[in-house]
Formats: sequence, structure tokens, C-alpha cells
Amino acid sequence: MTRLAIVIGSTRPGRNGLPIARWFTARAEAHGGFDIEVADLAAIDLPLLDEPHHPRLRRYTRDHTRAWSETVARADAFVFVTPEYNTGYPAALKNAIDYLHEEWRYKPVGFVSYGGVAAGTRAVAQLKQVVTTLRMFPLVEAVNIPFHAQFIGEDRRVEANEVMEQAAVAMLDELLRVEAQLRQLRADAGG
Ligand SMILES: Cc1cc2nc3c(=O)[nH]c(=O)nc-3n(C[C@H](O)[C@H](O)[C@H](O)COP(=O)(O)O)c2cc1C
Repeated sequence: MTRLAIVIGSTRPGRNGLPIARWFTARAEAHGGFDIEVADLAAIDLPLLDEPHHPRLRRYTRDHTRAWSETVARADAFVFVTPEYNTGYPAALKNAIDYLHEEWRYKPVGFVSYGGVAAGTRAVAQLKQVVTTLRMFPLVEAVNIPFHAQFIGEDRRVEANEVMEQAAVAMLDELLRVEAQLRQLRADAGG
């Protein structure tokens, strides 16, 4: 089984990221290929990066960093659930990425993005630039949800359309394929 961490990138009260992440998590569970852990950045509550050393050294001094390091290290693959804030992605997500280094290396990442007409794709474009610096492998297959509020009911559950459902399966299939090919690179790198 591929260990998949689904990272919820928005942290604000009332965030739509939560129902969207719940919908996607259910789809990932139904897929059957993954052992899933949800990493909710609101619950993890990392302060702004407060480590004195470059994360590549792994000389962590704070318990919250060690806990986050273990969460990311035990995952084989990621899905980042991200909104678009001012055509970028949330600061909380950048902060969580910057905390670590090798823990991300040679692992694939897919994106569930949402927003207005651009469906969060500008946030994803920025994320791709950052994650490749960490030697992550961003997928082409993605779930991009335009005008996401229309899919969230009064009960805060997502009623997905067929495009979203198919995109989720395509991304999860690709995540498994790419993850399998990256295992050797991770083994060679000792992690
Ligand atoms: C600070 C802020 C900036 C935003 N900027 C954008 C934007 O650039 N593009 C967009 O499509 N939506 C933008 N929105 C609207 C968000 O798509 C919408 O509020 C979404 O629900 C935010 O995700 P969240 O609810 O998980 O926080 C912005 C919302 C906030 C709070």
C-alpha cells in the first residue's frame, strides 16, 4: 500500500478546504490503493518557521518540527488541497513546506485546487515551482474545482460532478504509478 498524506492547506475558520478535503479523502479511501493520513494544517498549527538551522541538516530543536517531520517522512505520496489566495497559495502551506527538506524528496504530489474561474490553478502553478526545488514530483493530473461553493451544500458536504469524480480517480491512479517508480530513488537516497 502507498502511504498517502492529504495535506489541508487552508487554516481559516469556516474554510471550504475542509469539506473539499473530506470529499477527496473519501474518494482516495474508495480507490483502495492507499493507506491514508490527513494532515490538517489548522490542527497541526505550526508556528511561522522557528528553527535555527537549515532543514536539510535535520537538526530540529522543536517538538512541533519533529512531529511534522515524522508525519511527512512516513508518507510515500502527497495530495495538497489548496485554495487560491491573491493568485497564490496560502502562507500556512508554504510555511509547512519550508519546515522540512529531505522528508519531501522523491515523492509525488497531486493537487486538489479550488477557487473562482481559475479553479485555483494559479496557486498550483506556484506550488509546482516550489515543490520541484525539494525534488518532489508534481503530477499533471489534478482536481481543479471552479466556483467551488456551488458544490458545497448547507450540510457542508461536497456534491461532486462527474468531471471532479473522474479527475480524482485519474490523479490517484497516476499517483500510484509515479510513486512506484520513485521508490528506487528514495531507497538510493537512504530514505
Ligand atoms: C485572502 C483571500 C484571497 C483570495 N484570493 C482569491 C484568488 O486570488 N483567486 C480565487 O479564485 N479566489 C480567491 N479567494 C476566494 C477563495 O477562493 C475562497 O474564499 C475559498 O473558499 C478559500 O478557501 P478556504 O475557504 O479553504 O480558505 C480569496 C479568499 C481569501 C480569503
